Amino acid sequence: MLIRRTRGWEIAESKATPEAVMLGRRAMLGGAALAAAAVAGPAQAQLSELFGPSRPPNAMRALSPLSAARNAKYEAGRAITEERQATTYNNYYEFGLSKSVYGAAQALVVEPWTIEIGGMVAKPRKIGFDDLMKQMALEERVYRHRCVETWAMTVPWVGFPLAKLVELCAPTASAKYVTFTTLADKKTMPGLGQRFYPWPYLEGLTLQEATNELAFMVVGMYGKTLPSQNGAPLRVALPWKYGFKSAKSIVKIEFTDKRPTSFWEALQDEEYGFWANVNPKVPHPRWSQATETLLGSDERVPTQIWNGYGEFVAGMYSDKSGEKLFM
Ligand code: MTE
Repeated sequence: MLIRRTRGWEIAESKATPEAVMLGRRAMLGGAALAAAAVAGPAQAQLSELFGPSRPPNAMRALSPLSAARNAKYEAGRAITEERQATTYNNYYEFGLSKSVYGAAQALVVEPWTIEIGGMVAKPRKIGFDDLMKQMALEERVYRHRCVETWAMTVPWVGFPLAKLVELCAPTASAKYVTFTTLADKKTMPGLGQRFYPWPYLEGLTLQEATNELAFMVVGMYGKTLPSQNGAPLRVALPWKYGFKSAKSIVKIEFTDKRPTSFWEALQDEEYGFWANVNPKVPHPRWSQATETLLGSDERVPTQIWNGYGEFVAGMYSDKSGEKLFM
């Protein structure tokens, strides 16, 4: 996964591979090797300049107030990240490889928004976002979020349990997994021009995980509707897993009996597995996961197993010891 180094604890861009070198390297590489280069940190600055960040930022889309009572059961145990940090330091590859995609992401068209429900369900159908909102009771949950790149934040999300959405979709008895496909719109998303990425962005969970009480469908943050760069109008929050599992701007929800191959897994399965549960003791092949940096701070703090949510989720994996649960 690319990491744009812009903070004090990261290497300077001047130390990154020069663009010409990178482009030359790309010309020599093919297939999987090119995919590996695409997820290699030092290449980030050059690839990011190919699209996205150099475009002038679009005007910020207006957000609406979206208040909901906080569910005190899910205390994060650390300070909430400043809103400005959580909304200006993002991963949204469809809009660019930079962390500063918030300007480009304003091109996202969020109205009207329709979600397709399909696969192994009683009745495949489409549901409008507004219609969905009418059927769900909103709550606020403060969750820790841990990116596989070792940055972390603590966010007051507004949304509803994913289990409620699964219930609404009514999967058949033989369905075992749910997949989330996210918007891929070439007209507004410059990242889709990077053809070695296996667009659209797709993520999946077991139905057991999706109906775990922590799995949360997010429609807002900081008491407002979700900003485009954070995955408007609808994304997932799975606080015990690395952040790439939390798909943004979801347009399709499908149920299946076969384990789906996610976007990052398709690109580099050695580095980004299906389970991707947080564990400080299992390093990423290219960096340690022992500590993390909270957005807005330069200090590194210890990473917690399951990102600190073991009491809610560890039991789901007790019969899966043969699986690569942590990457
Ligand atoms: N969803 C889509 N569609 N595209 C992405 O690039 N990035 C993922 C995840 N969901 C991503 C995505 C990653 S790597 C992380 S860490 C989180 O979104 C970041 O969420 P944030 O930008 O709201 O902090």
